[in-house]
Amino acid sequence: MSGLTHKVSIIGMGFVGLTTAAVFAKKGALVYGVDSDENKIDIIRKGRAPFFEPKLDALVKRAVAQKRLVPTSSIAEAIDNSDLTFICVGTPMNSDGSVNLDYVARVSLQIGQVIKDSRKYHVFCVKSTVPPGTTGNVVTKNIEAGSNKQRSTDFGIAMTPEFLREGSAVEDSLNPHIIVIGTGDKKVDSRVHSFFRNLYGPRTKILKTNIVTAELIKYSNNSFLATKISFINTIANVCNKIPGADVDIIAGAIGTDPRIGSQFLSAGPGYGGSCFPKDVSGFIQFCKTLGLDPTLLEATDRVNKLQAQAVIDLVKHGLGPISGKSITVLGTSFKKNTDDIRESVSIRVIDKLLELGAIVRIHDPMAMDNTRTVFGNKIEYPASLANALKNTDCVVLMTDWDDYRVITEKMIRKFTSKCAVIDTKRFLQVKETADIKYLAIGKTKATLSSH
Ligand code: UDX
Repeated sequence: MSGLTHKVSIIGMGFVGLTTAAVFAKKGALVYGVDSDENKIDIIRKGRAPFFEPKLDALVKRAVAQKRLVPTSSIAEAIDNSDLTFICVGTPMNSDGSVNLDYVARVSLQIGQVIKDSRKYHVFCVKSTVPPGTTGNVVTKNIEAGSNKQRSTDFGIAMTPEFLREGSAVEDSLNPHIIVIGTGDKKVDSRVHSFFRNLYGPRTKILKTNIVTAELIKYSNNSFLATKISFINTIANVCNKIPGADVDIIAGAIGTDPRIGSQFLSAGPGYGGSCFPKDVSGFIQFCKTLGLDPTLLEATDRVNKLQAQAVIDLVKHGLGPISGKSITVLGTSFKKNTDDIRESVSIRVIDKLLELGAIVRIHDPMAMDNTRTVFGNKIEYPASLANALKNTDCVVLMTDWDDYRVITEKMIRKFTSKCAVIDTKRFLQVKETADIKYLAIGKTKATLSSH
C-alpha cells in the first residue's frame, strides 16, 4: 500500500502535534497540520518548527517541501481531505491542579460542526493527555452535539496516548516503545490499527484496549516515572546526611534488578517540564473525584516540590548566608536539549535565591530568552559562560547541558577567587580545592555529615 493513501489531520501544532505530524509525513502519510494560531501556521509553512526541538526543523522543512505536511488554520479543510484525525491540543493545569479541558472541548465542538453535512465516515483519535472518561464524555459528546451524528454509525472514536519526550521527541516518535489504541469499536480498531501497522511496520508493539484504559495508561506511565524520580531523590537526600554515601552507585545497583530497571533513577533537583508536574497533579485531582485518597501520588508531588529546598540547603551549606552574594545558576531549561522552562525547578530555585537576597545571574545554552520573560531585570544574563563565572561566589548546576562538561576547578579559578559549587546532577568535572567547595545532591563527603 502506498503511504500516501493515508490522509490524516492533526489538530494542535504544539510539541506533540507537530512532531507527530512531521514523523507521520516522513513515514509516508499525507498530513494536514491544523492550528488556530495563524502565526504558528505561517512559521510551519516556511518549513520551520515554532519551537526548538532537535531534528524537528529538518523534518518539518522536508515534509512541507514535499507537500506531505500541509499546514492550515482550517479544521474543515483538514478533515474534508483526510480520513483520520488526531486531536493533539493542550490540556494545561487549572489553578486547583485539575486538568483544563477547554481546548479539547472547543475543538470537539468545531469538529462536530465540520462533519455535520459530511457523508464520509471519519475516525477521531484523542492524543492529548486527558483524564479517564474525557474521550467519551467530552470529545464524543461534543462531536455528537455539534454534528447531530452518532458515534459508531457516523464517525469513530479512539484514544491513542503519546509517550514522546522533549529533547528526543523525533526519535521517540519514529521508534515508539508501544502504540496504544484504545477503542471499543471494531471498525475503528481496524482502521487505526492498519494505519499504524502500515506506517510503523510489523515489529512495533501495538496494544489494543478500550478507551478508558488507554486514557489511564498515560497517567499511570507518567505517574510511575515521576514516582521513580521522587523515590531516588528521597534516597539522594538520605545520602546527603550519611558520610560517603553515593546515590549513583545505589541507583546503578538497584537498577540492575530487572524488577526495578535502570532508567529514571537519576537523582537531582526534581522533575519539571510540561508533563510530569501537570499529569501527577491532574491524576491526584481525578482520583479525588472518585473518592480515593491518592496518598502515593501526593507524596510524589510533595517530594518533588520540596526538592528545590534541598538545593537551597546545599547553597547555604556551601556559602553560608546568601544575602548579597553573587550566585550563578547554570541551566534554566527543565532538562537539556530544550529551551522549555515550563515548571523548571531552576525557576523555583532562582525565585528562592532572590527571596533570600542573592544577586542572581544565569546561563543556559538555549533558554536565556524564555527565562528573561519570567525574571526581566531581576537577574543578570551574561553573554557567555566565562562572564557568568566571573567573580561569582557560588555556581549552581541545575541542568546537565553538555556545554558544562568543560567546567573544571581550574577553569573556575581563572574567573573567581573563592567559590562554592553546587552540583544538583553530579555532572561537573570539578574537584574540591582549598578555594572551591564542591557539594552535590546525593553524593556526600564525610565533612557534610556533621552538619
Ligand atoms: C515526559 C515523559 O518521559 C514522556 O513519556 C511524556 O510523554 C511526557 O513527559 P518530558 O517531560 O519531555 O517527558 O521529559 P523527561 O525526559 O521524561 O524528563 C522529565 C523531568 O524528569 C525532567 O525535569 C528531568 O530532568 C527529570 N528526570 C528524568 C529526573 O530528574 N531524573 C531522571 O532519572 C529522569
